Amino acid sequence: MNQKLLIIGNWKCNPTTKREAERLFLQIKRGTREVKNIEVVISPPFVYLSCLKEKLRKLKKSNLKFGAQDCFWERKGAFTGGISPLMLRDLGVEYVILGHSERRKYFKETDEIILKKIKSALRNRLSPILCIGETEKERKEGKTNEVLKTQLKNTLQKLFKPKISLPSSFAVAYEPVWAIGTGNFCPPELAMKALMFIKKEIIKVFPREISQAVRILYGGSVDSKNAIEYIKVGFSGFIVGGASLKAPEFIKIIELCNIIK
Ligand code: PGA
Repeated sequence: MNQKLLIIGNWKCNPTTKREAERLFLQIKRGTREVKNIEVVISPPFVYLSCLKEKLRKLKKSNLKFGAQDCFWERKGAFTGGISPLMLRDLGVEYVILGHSERRKYFKETDEIILKKIKSALRNRLSPILCIGETEKERKEGKTNEVLKTQLKNTLQKLFKPKISLPSSFAVAYEPVWAIGTGNFCPPELAMKALMFIKKEIIKVFPREISQAVRILYGGSVDSKNAIEYIKVGFSGFIVGGASLKAPEFIKIIELCNIIK
């Protein structure tokens, strides 16, 4: 299975103006024109998706794709503040990050809610990127595998009821909570142990051909100095937060991975 690496720029709640968003997007766009071996996905705040999509259309010849940072599970109706998967599809969004630890922490999302969102995304032809990972306390208590197992059990395992086919672009992101936005990235050898464990769990749930197609990404203080190490230990890409807001740094990460691939 020779899939492209997947690199997602998760802008989170940044930047604060449309002008800055367009500027950042155009810089990334220009810097990634020659990138052939990597799937690059930009996940801006919802409000910028439309104007950035328009920019992309005008610019033509680009390999960039769009992702959303979240998505509601219903298609439409009386759900104040909800953004539906149909709206995202209509804007040309292909991916959606689900279960990010910041959604779990600040928006009180549970595995149950995340499962609903994954099902809805799949039904509406969006590719979910499921985020899982342990907190610092859980790691210190030796519970990393237990946490990963529970998060996968409560979401992926339940996808078979009702049976929904997985798109080949489905991905799981290992994002240790303590490594996100802290500069304290997870040492690649340690991340590799989590990667192996996640792979083993996924194989238990899905048939081999499907399991092998699931890309496992790493996220948590990725930058141009540490990125390659994660690819070397077997990850299929990243979710990049802070570093994706600095175009030169984000482009450097992509270029390095483009060469190694
Ligand atoms: P970070 O964020 O790169 O700023 O640590 C990663 C993420 O939240 O996915």
